[in-house]
Amino acid sequence: MSSVPGKFITFEGLDGSGKTTQLEKLAAALRATGRQVVVTREPGGTPIGEQIRAVLLDARTHGLAARAEMALMFASRAQQIHEVIKPALREGKVVLCDRFTDSSEAYQGFGRQLGSETILELHRVVCQDFHPDLTLLFVGDFRSQLERARTRNSKDDDREGRFEREQADFFERVARGYEAIAKRETKRVVTIDAKHSIDDVHAAVIKTLQERLPGLL
Ligand code: TYD
Repeated sequence: MSSVPGKFITFEGLDGSGKTTQLEKLAAALRATGRQVVVTREPGGTPIGEQIRAVLLDARTHGLAARAEMALMFASRAQQIHEVIKPALREGKVVLCDRFTDSSEAYQGFGRQLGSETILELHRVVCQDFHPDLTLLFVGDFRSQLERARTRNSKDDDREGRFEREQADFFERVARGYEAIAKRETKRVVTIDAKHSIDDVHAAVIKTLQERLPGLL
């Protein structure tokens, strides 16, 4: 938990899980109650982080070693914590972040098979073991999520897409990684069934916030 006045909420799930739509809807709901909300994403979220993001997600990046990929994810994160997240929390704002260290554990730890311990150790060193107050994990139908992420990628020429090129077994490992995280981090992580309509999933998000962070909404 962050020991600062604001609240830090992260959104996790496979590509195509609908988490970004839900993040935007929650931001609007919080703002409607008068909360100051900062919306950000990883990798990225700062000028330096966005440069790192370009290297990481561009399908033209070839031969990036798994450990280099992991280190770049954390470099972007360290910058974002320093420049965006902690200052906003100190000002009492609500920070909504699209992906955080759970993504590194699921994608690099499980997907790239570097292992959870490596990721958690790096998190302790690089992020000073700084954790979200709440993490919403969006779990949908695995096959249709994969399909959605790929279609979205192929329709949009500007979209990066190095990860979307991975095979189904990579995403299966990522999904297993998320399951393991949710099982271990029961106090912090809440799994949201993303197989319903956008409005129904939003209602589940609101209910979760009211239960887990009373008084925020
Ligand atoms: P993005 O285009 O933001 O995808 P999405 O909309 O699904 O979040 O791309 C982010 C990609 O980076 C996504 O495929 C997951 C991956 N990623 C990691 O592998 N490790 C990480 O630590 C983070 C933050 C993201």
